[in-house]
Amino acid sequence: MASVGTTSCVVTGGARGIGRAIAERMVARGHRVVVTDVSEAVTATAEEIGAAGLVHDVRDPDAHRAVAAEAARHAPLAAWFNNAGVGDDGTLVALTDEQVRRLVEVNLLGTMWGTRAALDAFGPAGGDVVNVASLAGLTPAPGYSV
Ligand SMILES: NC(=O)c1ccc[n+]([C@@H]2O[C@H](COP(=O)([O-])OP(=O)(O)OC[C@H]3O[C@@H](n4cnc5c(N)ncnc54)[C@H](O)[C@@H]3O)[C@@H](O)[C@H]2O)c1
Repeated sequence: MASVGTTSCVVTGGARGIGRAIAERMVARGHRVVVTDVSEAVTATAEEIGAAGLVHDVRDPDAHRAVAAEAARHAPLAAWFNNAGVGDDGTLVALTDEQVRRLVEVNLLGTMWGTRAALDAFGPAGGDVVNVASLAGLTPAPGYSV
């Protein structure tokens, strides 16, 4: 990662949980952090941890570009954490259309839109993309069909 104190990073789905913990760690390391989430709770989280907060739905490709631009306003963008995710479990037969669509749009496409925005925004020095995923992304897991 580029030198501490001079770079920014984005953490999606960071209003709580693992994303919040990542954002706190990156703030502690001196990065300018933009934490985003579909939940408006992200505003309070950002204030508590010393980051900038944006309400952002990772299903929206254009919104990612706006987030990248906001991060670049703070400092050159050097890292992007695709952390936002949903974890509806169940068989494909049991899940509703809406659940299947949300799982794919958030966990898969949201990661792609974020990665694309990050790659587009990184400077000549490049940057790091970190995808937070489930074991179900590595191997078939009973009960996690999608
Ligand atoms: N905790 C676990 O055991 C576990 C296991 C497997 C995978 N994961 C993955 O790790 C990541 C973080 O998990 P967590 O345990 O902190 O979950 P969490 O539910 O506490 O946090 C996920 C965050 O993502 C946000 N989010 C959901 N949909 C979104 C959207 N469309 N746009 C933007 N933000 C959205 C939620 O509002 C929430 O704040 C997720 O990608 C999850 O799938 C976690």
